[in-house]
Order: sequence, then structure tokens, then C-alpha cells
Amino acid sequence: MTEDFMPLLGWDYLELWVGNAKQSAYFYEHALGFTRTAYAGPETGVRDRASYVLEQGEIRVVLTSAVREEHEITRHQAKHGDGVRDIALTVPDATEAYRQAVQRGARSVAEPNSVEDDFGTIETAAIATYGDTIHTFVNRADYAGPFKPGFVSMSSNGNRGAGLGLTNIDHVVGNVELGKMDTWVEFYETVFGMTNILHFGDDQIQTEYSALMSKVMSDGEGKIKFPINEPAEGKRKSQIEEYIEFYGGAGAQHIALATTDIVRTVETLKEHGMIFLDTPDSYYDEVVGRVGEIDEDYDDLHRHKILADRDDDGYLLQIFTKTAQDRPTLFFEVIERHGATSFGEGNFKALFEAIEREQALRGNL
Ligand code: FE2
Repeated sequence: MTEDFMPLLGWDYLELWVGNAKQSAYFYEHALGFTRTAYAGPETGVRDRASYVLEQGEIRVVLTSAVREEHEITRHQAKHGDGVRDIALTVPDATEAYRQAVQRGARSVAEPNSVEDDFGTIETAAIATYGDTIHTFVNRADYAGPFKPGFVSMSSNGNRGAGLGLTNIDHVVGNVELGKMDTWVEFYETVFGMTNILHFGDDQIQTEYSALMSKVMSDGEGKIKFPINEPAEGKRKSQIEEYIEFYGGAGAQHIALATTDIVRTVETLKEHGMIFLDTPDSYYDEVVGRVGEIDEDYDDLHRHKILADRDDDGYLLQIFTKTAQDRPTLFFEVIERHGATSFGEGNFKALFEAIEREQALRGNL
């Protein structure tokens, strides 16, 4: 057993750089059930940007827009559209995490920095990952304030904690360019000491028109999981290729959010206007035979088009939203695990077929 040179305590936050953070915040609050908890912007002395912090369960999302043309965030937004800029991880020592990462070949984005206010000290540092995406290391052990220094606490509706049943981030998937999957698998092995826990080839994930290859990287405890997809040869353009074309390179494809009552969570998300991918009724003819006995009623899953899959450790239920912006890029997954540690491989084909129906409607297949 080698020493863990990169201990990760958990997901700290996901920061999205978006065109209009004020309106995006409304979507996260009203469609996804988040509560806004902190804000930084021109009113609080931050002159170049506005950032909204939204929370639900243990999930923390930061939505940021620049307020001027000549700005890194404006350029990022023009190139990529709304998307995940930062997959931030909580660590016990950000300086040490950064030092280990850079020493192992990671590209530096921000050197270690400590910022202090009345609530204590927060230490951060950042490295680059695929595309223009970064990982910020955050040590907030000595900080008790709202998010970070510079942010003011805020609450829009006073119902913090109610939410729609989303409890934590399960995994964040990256789409990388053709031939680059193994480069990024090696990056997570070398820089983070992660291991490749699952691998699917294009023989396993293939529909008539497109295919993908996927490898799942995980930290030792399985808290942080990064599946990495790359396109594979198909008859027509794959959904991964479509993503890369419209995102302008590699980036985060989907954010999987966990719940402990997926039927109720999905029902409520739908009432709030979230739109999910459809699944053919024929899927539900075979699912009982494939997955077997579960606690939930298959009629409820069918009614909401929730998918089910089983592995050696148990079963899982999952559903995918339509893309969250006009570009066919980022979307969300809602997942409920009952022991299963995999990602719904048995559903990949069903998911692909469902996604491709959407792709065909946009004329991109
Ligand atoms: Fe997923």
C-alpha cells in the first residue's frame, strides 16, 4: 500500500462560466431546487464579474458571468457557451496538493494563495485538466464564512435545505477528443493517483450510428469519480463528437446528482419544468428481466422514464435531462444507488438511442 500523495476530502464546488449568471441562478433555484447562499459582484466590491453560489444537500454550484467584454470569462463563454469551468475539490492542504500535481506534470493555473477575512482563512490553488477546464484545490478547514472571502451571505427564499431531494455529486463526466482518452486516464493516474475502475469499448457501447469509449477514474475511496469519454467510429457523427464540435473542444459532458428517492425527485423536477430524455416504452418490456427485483415499483419508473441497471454490488436508477443550454453540450443526470458501483452500462445503449433521437431532431446526426 503506497502513501496517498493526493488525499481528496470531497467535491468542493462546480463553477460554471455562463452568459447571464443572474438568470442561470434562477434556473438552478426554480427548476433544480437549489438555494442561493452567497453572492459576489459589483455590489460587493468585485468589479469585473458576478458570482452566485447555490446549494442543495452537499452540492455546491457557483455561476459566474463577466460584466465586461474584455475578460477571460467573456472569451470562454463566447467559445464554449455556458459550461463547467472548474471542478473544485476539497483537500487537507492546497499547497501540498498543488505541489504534488505540478511535480507530476499538471499545468499550473493558479499558484497557492491564502485569503483571510473575519471568518478565517481559505487556501486555494488550481491546475488545468481537459480543454479549458480546471481543478481548484480548496482547503476550507479554517474557514467558517459563506463560500469564500469576498462573498456575502444571501438567501433568496429562506427555505435552505428543503430542495428537491438532490443530496450530493455522484460523478462528473468529461468528453475528450478522439484518441485522447488514454492521455487523460494517465493524467488522473499520475497526477491524482486515481485508478481506472471501469472500461467500456465501442463494442459494448454502440448504436447503429455512433459509439463511444469510456474509462472511469476513481480516487481510492470512490468519493470522486471522473468517467472520461472519447468518440469512437460510427456510421454517423457520435454524440461525443457533436459535443466537442459545439463546445469547441473537450469539456464536462454531464453532472450526475444523487438522490435517495428518485421517483419523487424526478416527479418534482418535472413539476418545476425540468425536461428529461425520453426512453422507448419497449425498454420497460425487458428491464424487469434484466434488473430483477427492486424496492421501487417498475410502473413508477416507466411513468417517469427512469432507467434501471444492476451490477455485482446492487442496482441503480438513473435518468438524464436534455441539454441545459441551446448548445448540445452540458446536461444533468439524477442517480439513486442501491449498492451498485457502476454507471448504468446496461443503459448506455438505451441512453444512446434516446440521445440520438434528439440529435437527429437538431439535424446533427
Ligand atoms: Fe453518468
